[in-house]
Amino acid sequence: MREIGVGLLGLGVVGSEVAHVLLDRSARLSEQVGASVTLKKALVRDLSKQRPYAFPAGLLTTNPDDIFNDPSISIVIELVGGEQPALDYMRRAISGNKHVVTANKEVIAKNGYRLLSLATEHQVDLRYEASVCSGIPVLSPLQQDLAANEIQAIHAIVNGTTNFILTKMAKEDLPYGDALRQAQDLGYAEPDPTNDVEGIDAAYKLAILASLAFHTPVRPSDVYREGISGLDPKDFTYAHELGYAVKLLAIARQRGAALETRVHPALTPLDNQLATVDGVFNAVQIDGDLVGTLVFYGRGAGGGPTSSTVVADVLTIARNIAMGGIIRPRMELNRRIPVMPMADIETRYYFRLSVMDQPGVLAQIGRVLGEHRVSISAVIQKELDPVAQTAQVVILTHPSREQSVQSAVGELAALPLINRVCALIRVEH
Ligand SMILES: NC(=O)c1ccc[n+]([C@@H]2O[C@H](COP(=O)([O-])OP(=O)(O)OC[C@H]3O[C@@H](n4cnc5c(N)ncnc54)[C@H](OP(=O)(O)O)[C@@H]3O)[C@@H](O)[C@H]2O)c1
Repeated sequence: MREIGVGLLGLGVVGSEVAHVLLDRSARLSEQVGASVTLKKALVRDLSKQRPYAFPAGLLTTNPDDIFNDPSISIVIELVGGEQPALDYMRRAISGNKHVVTANKEVIAKNGYRLLSLATEHQVDLRYEASVCSGIPVLSPLQQDLAANEIQAIHAIVNGTTNFILTKMAKEDLPYGDALRQAQDLGYAEPDPTNDVEGIDAAYKLAILASLAFHTPVRPSDVYREGISGLDPKDFTYAHELGYAVKLLAIARQRGAALETRVHPALTPLDNQLATVDGVFNAVQIDGDLVGTLVFYGRGAGGGPTSSTVVADVLTIARNIAMGGIIRPRMELNRRIPVMPMADIETRYYFRLSVMDQPGVLAQIGRVLGEHRVSISAVIQKELDPVAQTAQVVILTHPSREQSVQSAVGELAALPLINRVCALIRVEH
């Protein structure tokens, strides 16, 4: 049987599982491919570190040349993470005519198109299915099974850490800080959670999804981004009473000749499947003109789910090598669709105001909103405090322009009868 050598860069949470699967299931995987898929070397920083599996002596190395200079290795799996040295490693592997598999969303979101061009130049494959939602196959269906569709919209929960925190806040009425600490104690959130809670990770994934779905380059910096750290459990309760869950949504939608790309907390109708996605799970809802609405749901993180996808990419390449042909990497970005400025988007809004409990306050709110052409669909008064003489007013609007809502809210905040604008959350249908 022909041998196809594999080199692994990184033997951490995902790398260890990938190495274990490749070694433990070697006979079955080779049978599927029609060639022997052999893990030859794994790059680490620290040889003395405890690993979750007893790997064969001689597998681990700290010298990347042991992989890049080995002519028997034709597939390199990058699982180091972060932008550098991962990007340089991928460039080096491709330039040495080796195929690359990665789970690195940051590198693919920022440099995917250039790396794919380099891979085409060197006639090698670059696969990155695990970079978005780890164990859920979504990029490949977008590029293959849905190729006949015009994609109209993507609404997705792509970050398990924030979804875990939001689920805790909703179901256990926990403040954000307590829910975050629980996520950190369980290993779902990093000691520095910025990338997750500020929506940076979700923006990388949305940039990849939107580029493939709409065939246009979408950079992470094109994605409007708001995190979850300012959310208050009160709004989860009020939203639920109004028929919504609060989720961190990644949204890409074609609007006329432009594209909306945004990541922010959103009120999601309780009867929409995304509202039922709890804990660390992920889901991607895709609307295509032919197929209608599809929802991909599953585990969006973890060594097991990610190894499932990474190994599948390795097997696809190995099968192509074994059959003597290589399917070239594809990222058909042959359109140039401008990203709509956030000020121009139109959606519905939820906001909560702390107001003085005095006659005329609702009339003042109505006047300001009316002047900015923001039309109210519901108003609820909550939490009357007879001592402080304050109340909470919750307002839902009809579809309105972002800029009008922001101007109106700014004006409301300056009114003497209004103490504070406590929350402003977009509503997605
Ligand atoms: N974890 C997940 O659930 C998940 C899900 C989807 C995608 N991903 C992506 O998968 C990739 C890997 O994530 P992970 O969680 O497995 O990371 P990790 O646990 O931090 O592992 C990183 C590995 O890379 C090695 N490494 C780091 N810098 C290196 C360097 N400069 N030279 C050589 N080796 C280096 C480390 O070596 P030592 O072990 O010696 O320190 C470690 O083995 C990332 O791109 C991540 O975004 C992860």
